[in-house]
Amino acid sequence: MENIIQTILEVGLEKPVKILHITDVHLTFADENDPPEMHTTMKDREALFKREGGAPGMPSEYFEEAIRLAEKEGYLLVCTGDVCDLNISGCRAEFHRIADGHDMMFSPGGHETQKRYVRTMEEGEAYVRTVRPQVEAAFPEYDFLLDSRVVNGLNIVTADNSLDYYSAETLARFRKELEKGLPVIVFSHDPIFDTRLNAVEKTHPDVPLTEEDYRISHEMIDLINTHPLVKATFTGHSHRADERIHEGKPSFVTPGLFKGICRLIEVR
Ligand SMILES: [Fe+2]
Repeated sequence: MENIIQTILEVGLEKPVKILHITDVHLTFADENDPPEMHTTMKDREALFKREGGAPGMPSEYFEEAIRLAEKEGYLLVCTGDVCDLNISGCRAEFHRIADGHDMMFSPGGHETQKRYVRTMEEGEAYVRTVRPQVEAAFPEYDFLLDSRVVNGLNIVTADNSLDYYSAETLARFRKELEKGLPVIVFSHDPIFDTRLNAVEKTHPDVPLTEEDYRISHEMIDLINTHPLVKATFTGHSHRADERIHEGKPSFVTPGLFKGICRLIEVR
């Protein structure tokens, strides 16, 4: 790993919890099930992330290293998506090859369901409606919409906002998490202050959202921002490090793992 950002969060636990946060791995693999042009696309994408990341290692190597490190040190590994650069067979196979059999909490990114060359909004909408369930079925070990784990009295929650909104089911399940009465930290793909996530009307070319969807998503965002049990958010998506107080709460963005960077969070 080139850099492990150290973050300490005080929430009043009797015993601390250590979490290794990784995000935006961007594995770029095509295999025999993918069309020939996808092999070229993946080579181009690999070069692009190499340029953007400027790191000596490959994304797959950093992913493997993070898993090894978490297991060796007893950190809880939490990943906030964009493990696959595109939703293609080669990327999914590499994700499975590296992560299967290892303990990891996972919330998806937009790239897990994304393909290139969707031309119209209708095509994009149909694609996401069909493809998202297929991608979820390909990774049955993860609960895409919401997952949680209580460690030393801290409730660690992953909540899906990868398509730039929180769904009704994610909101309903998040309310149940709050009913546990424990301090909560939230892991999602998009930063809680992200412009698209906070949009009040249609901006996403691939996702069919109704006014009701926006209302629900904003209810979830408000809950995260204002509920006293929610202590902080940890996200990815922008590939850059960011730490700020948003609506009175600490909000951390961890850079892409393809840069060889992850975040070690010690919650006390
Ligand atoms: Fe990403």
